[in-house]
Amino acid sequence: MDPRIVANYRSPEGAARYEVLYRGRLHKRISDRVERRLIQRVFDRIGPQGRILDLPCGAGRLFPELARHSAWVVEADFSYPMLGRCRRNTEAVGYVNGSALALPFRDGSFDAVFSARLAHHLPDSLERDRYIHEVARVSRRWVVMTFFDEFSLKNVVRVLRRPFNRKRPKVAISTTGLHAVAAAAGLELLESHPLSLLFSGHRYALLRKVDARDP
Ligand SMILES: C[S@@+](CC[C@H](N)C(=O)[O-])C[C@H]1O[C@@H](n2cnc3c(N)ncnc32)[C@H](O)[C@@H]1O
Repeated sequence: MDPRIVANYRSPEGAARYEVLYRGRLHKRISDRVERRLIQRVFDRIGPQGRILDLPCGAGRLFPELARHSAWVVEADFSYPMLGRCRRNTEAVGYVNGSALALPFRDGSFDAVFSARLAHHLPDSLERDRYIHEVARVSRRWVVMTFFDEFSLKNVVRVLRRPFNRKRPKVAISTTGLHAVAAAAGLELLESHPLSLLFSGHRYALLRKVDARDP
């Protein structure tokens, strides 16, 4: 991950900015609302859950959506300032400081791992693979995660405009790429839904542990 992004998330100022990000500008508020609806759709599909891990939890923005589906949610992040804010904003059963690349949980500790807006911060494919292996390892059955879609309109436009504006490329993965990495981690990709076809490149993917398939 870009060391500037790491430093920002780990700083009290960065955490304070992130806490209010989705309550500010209109397009952020709309995106937040659409995202919550999409999360409900995915969780309605898999039904109520026992233990859920919210990783990375940030300031706890999406905790209420998870709490609708489980009375036992653990919040985890590698930033102490984020966790501090999360603790004030949520009523989870636990708050854990840890890296998504080496999760401090035993195999199969959770029925579902929810992981929003982290994959697109991991440009190194080995780190990304490691992260996907870790969420797969600590989940008993489900992984719900976001990725930034290489073939989304948002990304294609960004790539085409790059020679003119020199904006940094986004860390994007194709659905086929995710499929392959997930399979190597013992997950099957069941569905993936765009946050918005026009305005966002993020997708929510629903994955299931291969060894948790119904007989
Ligand atoms: C874009 S925020 C997403 C937070 C939350 N999921 C949300 O959607 O509001 C990214 C979060 O990832 C955390 N983070 C970044 N790299 C991490 C890592 N390797 N392990 C754990 N947390 C990480 C940051 O501290 C930050 O809280």
